[in-house]
Amino acid sequence: MGEEFVAILDFGSQYAQLIARRVREQHVYCEILPCDIPAEALAKREPRGIILSGGPASVYAPGAPRADQGIFRLGVPTLGICYGMQLGCDVLGGRVSPAPAREYGRASLTVVEPEGLLEGLPRDTTVWMSHGDLVAGLSSDFQVLARTENCPFAAVRWKKGPFYGLQFHPEVAHTPMGARILANFLKLCGTSGSWRMGSYLERTIHEVRAAVGEKGVVCGLSGGIDSSVVAALLHRALGPKLTCIFVDNGVLRQGEAEAVQETFRRVLGLNLRFIDARERFLARLAGVTDPEDKRKRIGHEFIEVFKEASRGLENVEFLAQGTLYPDVIESRSPHGGPSAKIKSHHNVGGLPAELGFKLVEPLRFLFKDEAREIARELGLPDEIVNRQPFPGPGLAVRVIGEVTEPRLAILRGADAIVQAEVAAAGLERRLWQWFAVLLPVQTVGVMGDERTYENVVAVRAVESTDGMTADWARLPYEVLERIGSRIIGEVRGVNRVVYDVSSKPPATIEWE
Ligand code: XMP
Repeated sequence: MGEEFVAILDFGSQYAQLIARRVREQHVYCEILPCDIPAEALAKREPRGIILSGGPASVYAPGAPRADQGIFRLGVPTLGICYGMQLGCDVLGGRVSPAPAREYGRASLTVVEPEGLLEGLPRDTTVWMSHGDLVAGLSSDFQVLARTENCPFAAVRWKKGPFYGLQFHPEVAHTPMGARILANFLKLCGTSGSWRMGSYLERTIHEVRAAVGEKGVVCGLSGGIDSSVVAALLHRALGPKLTCIFVDNGVLRQGEAEAVQETFRRVLGLNLRFIDARERFLARLAGVTDPEDKRKRIGHEFIEVFKEASRGLENVEFLAQGTLYPDVIESRSPHGGPSAKIKSHHNVGGLPAELGFKLVEPLRFLFKDEAREIARELGLPDEIVNRQPFPGPGLAVRVIGEVTEPRLAILRGADAIVQAEVAAAGLERRLWQWFAVLLPVQTVGVMGDERTYENVVAVRAVESTDGMTADWARLPYEVLERIGSRIIGEVRGVNRVVYDVSSKPPATIEWE
């Protein structure tokens, strides 16, 4: 894949994916690989550069993850970040020991060698440190490129081969010159920065055609960005050999089922099977209040419905899925990764192997924003490209407590108002998600001369770049005012609207 390729070896860093994104932002294709990949196997992939990530271990601790030492003899430019630096120095002639004080946060870096890796940096710049160990001694085979007050070897170069080490994290936003440092490293690797989404798309289309041949492919379409991109990409690659199945599970937003059909069937001309399974899903959800139980039931029911719907399809051997790169890395990382646990309840991957299909996953090497870029390349309409993430279990996890059709109707009405007002205020691009939640609480109100005892709707709007952390959005008061008064005025059964001012962590984006 790709002429110019950089390998990132993952030592369990929470930032491995961030490193990959930063490299791709420089238009260089990269992949995250297990840290113990044999040097020979890595050499076969002909990497232009290798990045050793950080990690929580101590290089001198028994059982700490090591890299195959042969990697340092490949002659390929290698950048060790934090743990990766300590590991490289340990192997090549340095001494790693616990830092006098664990360092976490911003530090002032003084550049002593403003060429090569640190070219273009001012003499003093801020960097982000997060480590308990540091390189305490180095042989004369090393040159010091920069230091901080607490860290004499903050950036180093091995003189006998192309190994570089950084004690700080260039990949995080708190290191303002980080992108420049990574760009410098990629320059040292001799990469040209020619990787583009358009060529990735073309290549993927060829690969899909070659893999699928004359067989058919079935794809579960949800209307979300991932499955939409997969469907549009496969439609371009395979035309009528692709059949999409869209299941209305009864917990979709207002107008969603119609909008998805309109876009994919009429605008894109896709072969689409629409399954109205609303009653089945709602029957499965009757009386259920536990959020995990709701998720499981919806997941199982979806598999049943999909099985039935795909049974009649002739010549279909493949199932297309919108698996993204973070899902692939998380499910494979030897250390689990800090994000693996948080997302474990999400039905990533979706359909089980027992369906008997071979998988086609054309997005498995892409990040979400890259999938969006592909969507634009494919000419998908803006409302799909910029669509906010929507959970698989849909409104079932936003009707807190039991999910019934009357409660769903209240939530749909309220949510449609949130959507309309955020759009009217032009705030969509600033926000990650914005929606209404129906609480299982009734409160007292007055309408006219009468007291009411009705439902509370919570409005949630968050800013985020990846959904892993999020900040509550400071929506203008006028927008909140319109949302509140419209919901209370127009949605029957609601007499109170509240705004959620919690960030993630410690709250989550969804209420259930
Ligand atoms: P939380 O609520 O964990 O959500 O902060 C993070 C992101 O994931 C979405 N989400 C889900 N997506 N199945 C999904 O496919 C789920 O069960 C699920 N729960 C949360 C949520 O909307 C947010 O974008």
